[in-house]
Amino acid sequence: MIRYEWCTHLTGGDAQQLRDLLVRAAAYDAEPEYNRIDPDEVDRDLAAGGEVRYLVIWLTERQEMPDGSMADQVAGVIRFVPRSDGWADGTIVIDPDFRSIGIVTLLLEREGTDFSADGGWLASGFAGVRGWARGNHPASGRIGDRNLLPRTRRIWKLVRPSSECGADDGGRINELTGADDSAVAALLTALEASDNERDRLAIAASDAPTRVALGVSNGADLVGVVDLDLTPVHIDDIGKCAGIDYLGTAPGIVGPNRGTALTDLLAGAGARAANAGLDGLIVYTSSADEEFVAVGRHLGFQHDRTDVLYEIH
Ligand SMILES: CC(C)(COP(=O)(O)OP(=O)(O)OC[C@H]1O[C@@H](n2cnc3c(N)ncnc32)[C@H](O)[C@@H]1OP(=O)(O)O)[C@@H](O)C(=O)NCCC(=O)NCCS
Repeated sequence: MIRYEWCTHLTGGDAQQLRDLLVRAAAYDAEPEYNRIDPDEVDRDLAAGGEVRYLVIWLTERQEMPDGSMADQVAGVIRFVPRSDGWADGTIVIDPDFRSIGIVTLLLEREGTDFSADGGWLASGFAGVRGWARGNHPASGRIGDRNLLPRTRRIWKLVRPSSECGADDGGRINELTGADDSAVAALLTALEASDNERDRLAIAASDAPTRVALGVSNGADLVGVVDLDLTPVHIDDIGKCAGIDYLGTAPGIVGPNRGTALTDLLAGAGARAANAGLDGLIVYTSSADEEFVAVGRHLGFQHDRTDVLYEIH
């Protein structure tokens, strides 16, 4: 059986069990890149007594105590981070030793998934929850199907080895500098880029040691930008890879012209990564962006991971 409750603090034994669970789960889930919850963040959130909420789940009468009685054991946790629109970002992690025995199934069979009730699901206070299933764990898909949970976005992580680079790819893009600030700002405004994306691109276009900003123009205007992070990230079968943190093409560039801009940006970024001694390039895209997917496939990108966004309310 299970029990679960909202926790604003945990006593010594439970706190240690939760930390141990999250550390083991992070190691277990590292290779397929499933969701993780940082135990230090849990400690910080609980100590701060802020608005981040934790639903802790126990398996009841699980461990035998020295006096022969049976004690409950922490089996998982759901973390809810509130957002300004009244929703929360949710992440769930179940102890790897207790997976696939029906813990989440039982929780949802008992409590449902209805946030429209007064006070929200389980009196959480949230109007809804958004949860990214990173790596699209097969169980999260089964849970989504069984409970008819809406999947609203699907993001693919694509990777391409530097061996796919063509000899002339470096010439397809320009490295942007501070002199391009106003052109970059105009393009990012048209793209409705976030403040974070703007700030990071400005850093990339300055003398940042591990980031570069790359651009393509149509002769007159800048029509595409890439924020490329050259900090190596390991990908199995490829090696050390650079990552594209932001890629945008001007809204007015459509059809084959967008395809050309995307080809130049992706091939150019690949060449820049190879120049920096890296073995490959990582980029993320919506699986619904058929043009991007087609260009990626032509350039030799391979699918590495899918992230699925569930929005439950
Ligand atoms: C995803 C996760 C929360 C599921 O929790 P769980 O308690 O193990 O799930 P359950 O045992 O209730 O299983 C739910 C369904 O998935 C199926 N399932 C469980 N493990 C599976 C696996 N490894 N492969 C395929 N199906 C699996 C079950 O058979 C069940 O399907 P059914 O209802 O059609 O029979 C858990 O695996 C986990 O912590 N994963 C790592 C973190 C993560 O990816 N979080 C998800 C997004 S926030």
